[in-house]
Amino acid sequence: MIDRLRAAFHQQFGDKEELRYFFAPGRVNLIGEHTDYNGGHVFPCALTLGTYAAGAKRSDGRVRMYSLNFEEDGVKEFDLFEIAYAESDGWANYPKGVFNQFIEAGMDIKEGFDIVYGGNIPNGAGLSSSASIELVTAVLINEWSSFGTSSVDLALLSQRAENDFIGVNCGIMDQFSIALGKEDHAILLNCDTLAFEYSPFRQEGLALVIANTNKKRALADSKYNERRSECQSALNDLRKEIDIAHLCELTAEEFAQHAHLIQDETCRKRARHVVTENERTMKAVNFLKDDKMEELGALMKASHLSLKNDYEVTGLELDALAEAAWLYPGTIGSRMTGAGFGGCTISIVKEELLDSFIEETGAIYQEKTGIQASFYTAGIGGGARELTKEEM
Ligand code: GLA
Repeated sequence: MIDRLRAAFHQQFGDKEELRYFFAPGRVNLIGEHTDYNGGHVFPCALTLGTYAAGAKRSDGRVRMYSLNFEEDGVKEFDLFEIAYAESDGWANYPKGVFNQFIEAGMDIKEGFDIVYGGNIPNGAGLSSSASIELVTAVLINEWSSFGTSSVDLALLSQRAENDFIGVNCGIMDQFSIALGKEDHAILLNCDTLAFEYSPFRQEGLALVIANTNKKRALADSKYNERRSECQSALNDLRKEIDIAHLCELTAEEFAQHAHLIQDETCRKRARHVVTENERTMKAVNFLKDDKMEELGALMKASHLSLKNDYEVTGLELDALAEAAWLYPGTIGSRMTGAGFGGCTISIVKEELLDSFIEETGAIYQEKTGIQASFYTAGIGGGARELTKEEM
């Protein structure tokens, strides 16, 4: 990848005295879905798949960007003092949003940049290719400009770019896990306080498998925003009688006592998913610590079913993949991961049975949906960073 970036850089932008290289991973969430924007817990890990960037400074306040993943789009160019969202800029709006946030935060990026991106995260598969390009850009700006902004602040700044510039009202999970990922560790994050801890995930004889439904996610952003407002409406109803700031302040038991306050049945179901999912996530972390993998697997299944029945974000394809995995004897656990509406499942599978898992679940999936799934064995890698010579 580095060689391809270097070659594309020279071709698009010519020779530069100093070229620096950066990387930001994608992420997969083990459990804790749609809890982040409800003040709950999530349990994601950063992947070894990700987005690379090669960047050099310019002196005229202009930014030029090129992506190996969208070569047909050519070079995108803008002025640092006139950054505006443009439909026609496609993928480039994500890094533009990050530049915009640095400037909004009062950090003085005087010079411009030439940047070439290239990544190996499948786009639109729910593995956070967008947060990945945001964070690789944030780290590039931060390092080149010596701002010294912390990883947590870079995550928050990138989330704001997605919320305010792109218009997707996402929570903090993706940007946080990508900024703070750690090799062979999952991250338990309290999305209310941003307190977090790393939890080792290196189970002998087990593999983490991502299966992509290859279903194009339609209207995912608007449905995502709709789920958020349904949660908000449930919270507003509950607050008429109980003093809470987020749905995830409630235990499942407390929720059951107060659920009748939520007027709309759909909103009640959404809130029930959120509260029970938050409890499952905290339990899952302890099961992983105690090496109780079967129990962890059962929670993953319960999570998927709750996302199917109460949150209604799975759909035919994700259900077909998860159900095929549950039937397979070498599966420890399997569930949809990310926002849903298409995208991927994550499964924990006995390593020696990996090939036949892929063959059998892939065949059942294809029979049910007519689509061929793609499978990736996920490596858990480090967070967004400048690449050292040894890493290149
Ligand atoms: C998307 C969002 C995250 C989170 C998940 C669902 O990935 O970007 O903030 O809400 O969906 O858990």
